[in-house]
Amino acid sequence: MSAVVAAAALTVEPLLDVRALRAGYGPSEVLHGVDLHVGSGEVVALLGRNGMGKTTLVRAIAGLNRARHGQVVFRGESVEAEPPHRIARRGIGLVPEGRQIFANLTVLEHLSAFERAGDAGPSRGGAANRIGRVFELFPRLYERRTHLGNQLSGGEQQMLAIGRALVTEPRLLILDEATEGLAPLVRQEIWHCLAALRAGGQAILVIDKYVQRLIQLADRHVILEKGRVAWTGTSAELDADASIWQGYLGV
Ligand SMILES: Nc1ncnc2c1ncn2[C@@H]1O[C@H](COP(=O)(O)OP(=O)(O)OP(=O)(O)O)[C@@H](O)[C@H]1O
Ligand SMILES: [Mg+2]
Repeated sequence: MSAVVAAAALTVEPLLDVRALRAGYGPSEVLHGVDLHVGSGEVVALLGRNGMGKTTLVRAIAGLNRARHGQVVFRGESVEAEPPHRIARRGIGLVPEGRQIFANLTVLEHLSAFERAGDAGPSRGGAANRIGRVFELFPRLYERRTHLGNQLSGGEQQMLAIGRALVTEPRLLILDEATEGLAPLVRQEIWHCLAALRAGGQAILVIDKYVQRLIQLADRHVILEKGRVAWTGTSAELDADASIWQGYLGV
């Protein structure tokens, strides 16, 4: 690491620090001691083949799976024992796998409900502002604002799932399968949106299968294998070594 890069790394303020995290389901342990770090304004990609524990990890960070051991430190405080709504209010916005849009709520109702659940202070702009910013990011959602969840396409549902997280003004946006199952043009739109958020200083932890796009977007990458961190490095390092992709990701 050059002195310049080392100095830059030191100036990134810690945001999320996952330490020796163990979690699982019933008697089976899925995460066997995972460490993961995201700094303020950083974009980190979480990679790994199917079933390696990516969703289990981000759900544990969001408080939806209990940590059995280890710590989730967010903005300097341990949050692993807190309920999901409290963790969300601290500033973690999760776009869940499968999107989880309510069939019988409109686009606007989704955004309003989540906006109220968030913890954005008055200094950070009013509700109309926050929802307006989501409509600026995704004009399609504005056009569909009175449509119900079950009237939306997969791409529109994903835009809404992202918008629903963004109206809480999260310090850390987490996307579990950012573009899964979407048509190529919609995928492009999601990647452009994430790049714009990144340019605005948004910290992001993103799971996706399109490694090439993640290399363009992210600062660092963490590869999970069977519930352990198997590799971690920068985009340049991942880009330069195809054996990492083949070995851990099978692509
Ligand atoms: N609700 C559950 N109950 C029991 N086992 C589960 C549950 N959810 C996931 N698992 C198991 O935990 C392991 C990790 O699953 P997880 O969903 O975290 O993987 P993943 O890396 O997100 O995979 P994918 O790429 O398919 O989304 C797998 O062996 C899976 O079968
Ligand atoms: Mg998953």
